[in-house]
Amino acid sequence: MLARSLILKTSAWGPVERMVRKSFLFKPLVRRFIAGDSLEEAIEASNATIQKGMFVSLDFLGENTKSEAEALAAKATYIRMLETIAKSSSNTPPKRVEMRHKTPGAPPLGELEATNISIKLTQCGLDQGEDFAETNYREVLWAAAERNTFVRVDMESSEYTERTVKMIQKVHQDFPNTGTVLQSYLVRTDEDVELMIQMQARVRLVKGAYLEPANVAIQDKAKVDEAYVRQAKRLLEAAFYPAIATHDEKIINELNQFVSQKGIAKESFEYQMLYGIRRDLQDKLVKDGYNVRVYIPFGDSWYPYFTRRLAERPANAFFILKSLFKG
Ligand code: FDA
Repeated sequence: MLARSLILKTSAWGPVERMVRKSFLFKPLVRRFIAGDSLEEAIEASNATIQKGMFVSLDFLGENTKSEAEALAAKATYIRMLETIAKSSSNTPPKRVEMRHKTPGAPPLGELEATNISIKLTQCGLDQGEDFAETNYREVLWAAAERNTFVRVDMESSEYTERTVKMIQKVHQDFPNTGTVLQSYLVRTDEDVELMIQMQARVRLVKGAYLEPANVAIQDKAKVDEAYVRQAKRLLEAAFYPAIATHDEKIINELNQFVSQKGIAKESFEYQMLYGIRRDLQDKLVKDGYNVRVYIPFGDSWYPYFTRRLAERPANAFFILKSLFKG
């Protein structure tokens, strides 16, 4: 946890950011986690992932727009992503999965989308105003609904949690093709899990990637893992098509055992992993018949995303430091 917070704090300094952006040493590592600068490169990565039997969520990198014009440009990109996906082979699912709410006797809701998109409310202009961001978000949802696909709202730092949950609550009534992410490290998350189950909104469960204070987030990693397992089990039993997003093999093994014991269908949930991380485990889960979705980021605003990935596995950062000193 100490190394994680050190990396997150150090990487926020301007000189460090400039060094990382310029240095050719980081390029291979950046490319491992990010599909490319352009949407075309992301679609290429997405097609290849689907060929391997997995589903995809595309993420246009960027957060916290500084002006309304920036937010409108991000919204236009989101819509262009949906249009491009619909016309490409990223729109053909690797297998047919029928969607159904967890309420007894619920009718089928259609087929699971091959590729969806993940967006950020701060990229829709949340810092410029809640109504403004909501209008942009709703336009993206229209475009997605027209193409029978789904829009996931990523969860950002705790400054935005309450506003994100409230926004989903409001908008999900009109657009069931949206859902969000819950972070197990937050003290509030057990309650949010129950809320999403009640709404039958799709949830992606993650451990949480931001540096948060002790009054809002659990600081002890073992306790975060414990919360993750508890919340994942609850979602698997009661939520509508939850996404279990982790690379933690021990947790995945425990959950596989849990679903098998409880008779929970493998088609009623999916595992999610990040592009470039634990590809071996992604392949193994597909082979074992689980639905796996890979989160594929693209775009030139990769720096904050990249540093969060380094912080999750400090060995990545130490490897680079070692090569810097060797050079
Ligand atoms: P943990 O960090 O305990 O890692 C378990 C094991 O996974 C490690 O031992 C290592 O083997 C491997 N691993 C994990 N991270 C690695 C890395 N960067 N490089 C190499 N190996 C690594 N967070 C958030 O706050 N908001 C969000 O919206 C999202 N969205 C999201 C989508 C998807 C699809 C995923 C998989 C994750 C997110 N996250 C996120 C990130 C999440 O909160 C968390 O930081 C990471 O998933 C790492 O946590 P793990 O659950 O993998 O466990």
